Amino acid sequence: MEFLELVKNRYSCRSFSDKPLEQEKLGAILEAGRLAPSAVNYQPVRILVVKSKEGLEKIEKATTLYNPACALIVCAEKDKAWERKYDGKNHGEIDATIATDHMILSATSLGVNSLWVCRFKEQVIREEFALEDNIVPINILALGYQNEDWKPTENHTKRKSIEEIVKYY
Ligand SMILES: Cc1cc2nc3c(=O)[nH]c(=O)nc-3n(C[C@H](O)[C@H](O)[C@H](O)COP(=O)(O)O)c2cc1C
Repeated sequence: MEFLELVKNRYSCRSFSDKPLEQEKLGAILEAGRLAPSAVNYQPVRILVVKSKEGLEKIEKATTLYNPACALIVCAEKDKAWERKYDGKNHGEIDATIATDHMILSATSLGVNSLWVCRFKEQVIREEFALEDNIVPINILALGYQNEDWKPTENHTKRKSIEEIVKYY
């Protein structure tokens, strides 16, 4: 698939069917996350793969996922991320987000539907998955196959124009 077509084909799915996600596809999606770049190549990204009913119910205590086959809790190991020496900015969140974007596009290329979720109660995720203090959950990526009648929302085609977001100097 041509790259821009791939980008256009990704949309948020908020209605997953019961169809399981093949382990082979999940492996390929995780590999795309593993290969993502990170600041100074410190690779602070940690990914919790949640496939069990019990695990997905734990996440549902923190957010709404719409019945995916699998959810990835993409975390940054804060202590392992690059900190910019001039101002101490920690880049773990950026690294986790790049990995998440690689994985969401990989999923799209494999015909797997997805939803990127940040509206979650961090403390609940921490407690349910017994995360150590230096592990910060950044994004949750729900994966699976949509119900047939699901259509992308209006938001999917509402994007600002190039003129509004780009300025040449
Ligand atoms: C960083 C980020 C956080 C998001 N968090 C949520 C969320 O918590 N719940 C949700 O339903 N959608 C969430 N979304 C999906 C956005 O609402 C969606 O991408 C946007 O409305 C554009 O629609 P589209 O994905 O169909 O193109 C999130 C997307 C991004 C990139």
